[in-house]
Amino acid sequence: MQPIADLDVLQPVSSAPDVAADGLDAPQTLAATADAPNGRRVFIETYGCQMNVADSELVASILGQEGYGLAASEDDADVVLINTCAIREKAEDRVRGRLAKFRAKKVKERPDLQIGVLGCMAERLRTKLLEQEKLVDVVVGPDAYRDLPRLLAEADETGQAAVNVHLSREETYADLAPVRYDTNGVSAFVSIMRGCDNMCAFCVVPFTRGRERSRPVTSILSEVGQLVDAGYKEVTVLGQNVNSYRVEQDGTAVSFAELLYRISLLSPELRIRYSTSHPKDCSDELLHVHRERPTVCDFIHLPVQHGNTDVLRRMRRTYTREQYLDLIDRARSIVPDLSLSTDIIAGFCGETDAEHADTLSLMEAVGYDHAFMFAYSERPHTFAARKFEDDVPEAVKKQRLSEIIALQNATSKARHEARIGRREVVLVEGPSKRSDAQLAGRTDANHMVVFDRPEGVGKGDYVAVEIIGCTSATLFGDFLGRTTLAEASALVA
Ligand code: SAH
Ligand code: SF4
Ligand code: F3S
Repeated sequence: MQPIADLDVLQPVSSAPDVAADGLDAPQTLAATADAPNGRRVFIETYGCQMNVADSELVASILGQEGYGLAASEDDADVVLINTCAIREKAEDRVRGRLAKFRAKKVKERPDLQIGVLGCMAERLRTKLLEQEKLVDVVVGPDAYRDLPRLLAEADETGQAAVNVHLSREETYADLAPVRYDTNGVSAFVSIMRGCDNMCAFCVVPFTRGRERSRPVTSILSEVGQLVDAGYKEVTVLGQNVNSYRVEQDGTAVSFAELLYRISLLSPELRIRYSTSHPKDCSDELLHVHRERPTVCDFIHLPVQHGNTDVLRRMRRTYTREQYLDLIDRARSIVPDLSLSTDIIAGFCGETDAEHADTLSLMEAVGYDHAFMFAYSERPHTFAARKFEDDVPEAVKKQRLSEIIALQNATSKARHEARIGRREVVLVEGPSKRSDAQLAGRTDANHMVVFDRPEGVGKGDYVAVEIIGCTSATLFGDFLGRTTLAEASALVA
């Protein structure tokens, strides 16, 4: 997924309003509701990627329809749900730690507290969680959230754990209106597909989230239309591999490029981003939508994973280093001023020093604005776990990862420095982290900009700024004036 959210989020994205999510750019909070019609309150703690954040919004909606209220913290909750991530071992360890804590609370203080595991660890760990560790009351996989109210009631009645980890070929939750995490009403996630069919050798996602399926166009357009009506200014459309989106509508196939185009017709003031795109499916048609539609941001998260063709083959990524670099050239020729981010894995099975050096040289060749960088973590059942040895020593993985991170920090800084003196349009998200006297928001290229708060300007406004300074993480701007997206091209020209 794309870097609006850090995929290596090991801090929970909490439903507590005051807990900022580490590694996520916007505070991800599900505000507590005033009432709980059925007398029960639920606290949802979310780990992992944006798909999980969007899923927690669905879960809140499903439980809300049954009269559950949302709790401000685990202390006010009758039900605690952990929406889990299985992408790396560390992510799972963290969830186990939280579960043990909730379990201790249940045993010592709150025997009536219900504890549930949702999301990507559910299928894999159900037996262990239920039988050996006896930690939880409900275990619910990503395609079974509609069943959650029934499972909670069943667990309550029987005193036994209730489980549904069935993975569906059809479920897209198309008809549900999610309860939004982003309570500031500026930016929202919209799921357009679920699952993944790609089977990259290192990745557990196809096992945890099942087969790829796309949500009908009409339900996506109607959800985005409602967001526009509610005053939202930015959507990020989500899927594991959005550019393989495809549905049949009235006898014609609708591609991702077509979908994006249709979304962009809904409002001239709605910025559109997406996450994540696999390089193999990044079509010229899609690049032309970036070029032609001013509200489709000139920014793509295009995970490369590695810079060496042999490693890419072992990873089953289906492209070579040269094909990837050609794609970047093509993308930059069609979309001038395109910004790019990526995901990179250090220390995959059999990686040599020379192969690692190819990752560094590819990063230099591309010049990413941002990257999410990980040490390889073997995941059960994956192709790599079955066929290859996880033979790069931890210390070597760490060393290589630190070289990758150091290079990316230097590149991010240089990319930021190149913006100094330019005019940018910023969508204001709210006060900066440091001071209420400053506002923060993102440029079209997804760079965070901080500037002194002018009178009468606030979240949800588009403003023009001149970039006057930077660090590797943030740009600093001088406020020039309020604007609209439609006017912006004239202001920043
Ligand atoms: N569907 C997205 C990726 C989702 S997982 C895509 O294909 O772009 C997010 C990132 O986690 C991946 O891009 C990869 O860089 C990283 N990742 C996945 N499995 C991993 C593993 N076993 N060890 C380390 N990093 C991993
Ligand atoms: Fe995992 Fe690959 Fe699918 Fe992304 S495209 S979710 S990395 S299998
Ligand atoms: Fe996302 Fe983690 Fe699942 S990255 S898809 S929550 S395994």
